[in-house]
Amino acid sequence: MSKNAAPTSAPPSVVERAAWLRAEINEHNYRYHVLDAPIISDAEFDALLNELREIEAQYPELITPDSPTQRVGAPAAEGFAKVRHPQPILSLGNAFDVAGVRAWRDRLVKYVQQNFGDSDDLRKLDDYVVEPKIDGLTVVLTYADGVFVQGATRGDGLVGEDITPNLRAVKSVPLALRRKDGSAVPARLSVRGEAFMPIADFEKLNEAQLAAGERTFANPRNAAAGALRQLDPSLTAKRPLRLLCYAIVDFVPGADGHVAPRTQWETLSYLRQLGFPVTDIARRFDNLEDAIAYCTAYVEKRDDLPFEIDGMVIKLNDLDLAQRLGYVGKDPRGAIAFKFPAREATTILKDVSVTIGRTGNIVPNAVLEPVHIGGITITSATLHNYDDIARKDIRIGDRVIVKRAGDVIPYVAGPVVAARTGRERIITPPTECPFCGTPLTRREGEVALYCTNADCPGRLDRAISHFVGSGAMDIQGLGEKIVAQLIEAGLVADVADLYSLKKEDLLGLEKFAERKAQKLLDAIEASKRQPLYRLIVGLGIRHVGEVAARALADRFGSLDALIEAASESPERLQDIEGVGPVIAESVSEWARRDSTRALIAKLKHAGVDPKQEVRSAEARAEGPLAGRTFVITGTLSKPREAIAAWIESQGGKVTDSVSKNTSYLVVGDAPGASKINKARQLNVPMIGEEELRNLAR
Ligand code: IVH
Repeated sequence: MSKNAAPTSAPPSVVERAAWLRAEINEHNYRYHVLDAPIISDAEFDALLNELREIEAQYPELITPDSPTQRVGAPAAEGFAKVRHPQPILSLGNAFDVAGVRAWRDRLVKYVQQNFGDSDDLRKLDDYVVEPKIDGLTVVLTYADGVFVQGATRGDGLVGEDITPNLRAVKSVPLALRRKDGSAVPARLSVRGEAFMPIADFEKLNEAQLAAGERTFANPRNAAAGALRQLDPSLTAKRPLRLLCYAIVDFVPGADGHVAPRTQWETLSYLRQLGFPVTDIARRFDNLEDAIAYCTAYVEKRDDLPFEIDGMVIKLNDLDLAQRLGYVGKDPRGAIAFKFPAREATTILKDVSVTIGRTGNIVPNAVLEPVHIGGITITSATLHNYDDIARKDIRIGDRVIVKRAGDVIPYVAGPVVAARTGRERIITPPTECPFCGTPLTRREGEVALYCTNADCPGRLDRAISHFVGSGAMDIQGLGEKIVAQLIEAGLVADVADLYSLKKEDLLGLEKFAERKAQKLLDAIEASKRQPLYRLIVGLGIRHVGEVAARALADRFGSLDALIEAASESPERLQDIEGVGPVIAESVSEWARRDSTRALIAKLKHAGVDPKQEVRSAEARAEGPLAGRTFVITGTLSKPREAIAAWIESQGGKVTDSVSKNTSYLVVGDAPGASKINKARQLNVPMIGEEELRNLAR
């Protein structure tokens, strides 16, 4: 209990009542904010608090630092004072996979053998506590004789900032320690914990910010950081911050002389006993593999937790051994973070492209500097809608936070305002559909802009259906319904996404069984070998049909060459037979779009990059296959001789072996391995019989 030495004119009964109220209110507070199990109503709680406030107003000398009325103090006059931590607040080493964790243990075994050589210590390497790694901010709470006297940020690990008034305002921070069974509290105790904002509260906060016309936060961590560093603690109090404690950083025994816990497992229960909030998903294991299994289970289960975690922490249970093991840099040897695949990263927003949803809704998309998130390279992400862009104040050129989780389409969560240079450009919503020019409309009560033109070529499902259609990439088994399903499920946001579909993705869709899924994947894979002109058709460039696509393919031989020439000027295209000024302009405009380049890069990355030899107009005039040399391997629908004669009738040449002069290798059933290998080696395109016929059409 806190000392209350100040002389007072209050009658003893009032002094007693005030002390009782303080204890009672702190108890209910603890039940509500730490245990999540209140036993009185909010109204009853308020009545107690009001009674205490009244007493304290009349007799200010009765106010103690641990009084629940003192949670929200006055704003700090200027900045935060610095506090030196009782001992360095270390960080944690990371392991990004199971092998990394095993390697950590191997290092420990070696270290113990070399430095301690004690078999007892070796045995202690098979005693672990696993805890969630909360994605929040480290805080250090200090208690003198059981009363909260100081709260600090981690700072640089040695010196932090004094944010005592703010932490006082966090309801799950005990203002006074609980004493169990008459035991004394330590004379001095510093506890380390993580302050964070639960996801649901974060979302609510953002809604409220929105309603108030204020800036929203990109993630719970930023929201928590902002709340903790408020100069006015009443603002912190309005932000629903929470706390989970997991370590003791300083301990001076109290009256009964009890010492600090010797293991991590005991630490957690000791902290719980003193009234600190402690995670209930920590577990103890007597071997590393079980500890690892517990960690990996949370890769999925993290979504069920009410707060963000970015991994699990595996700690040696024996604190004495952990202490003796010391640290490397800022990382203690005795613990390791098992990091989960990242879900967000920052990158530069280069441009905004637009796609149209199935219903005609205009969706702004971020064209991003490529960034890796959780093992995947992201080059585009949704910006949801223009209201959202304005609200989050996202600008072109901004460094932005990009998120991707599970099956969710990557999205831009917000700008990193601190990284602004002043050269960023405001994003203005289009007034007309960028694909068809129809004036955009806004439906009552909706944020999206709509293109009302049902035939608008910009509609994503149409674009994809066109791409997979028989005139283009000819991917069998991808009817409109399935395309719609894929879009609906967020699996494809552009045609390149088709190539990263996985079987699990498809099996998650309605009416998709193993065989159907495999067939579709095979068809998608096979489409990578379609001739260049089909890909050009598939990309749906305005005014570009098969004739123009063939002409462009023949002239440039690859997408890269086409884009390079077309983005330079439309004139570079105009002398091509079959390409008039309208087409040239359209192709040129298309080639200059950042979104085009991003899409092409994505397709190439997926292995869709057909090449063919460049052919002159004269060669094309002598027959559709003129100037092209073919090699045939395997069994086709007709005898080899018949196929060869047909190729020649179309102006083509047939030879026996693959060389750098070969235009195409025509592949039938049971093809010869050496020819296939040679073609691969020389980058000679391989086509099937049907594609061969297509070439001559
Ligand atoms: S233990 C010596 N346990 O993760 C003790 N840290 O990336 C080292 N964190 O700075 C820290 N939850 O802020 C530990 N259960 C937990 C944690 C945890 C979150 C944070 C902590 C640390 C960071 C390291």
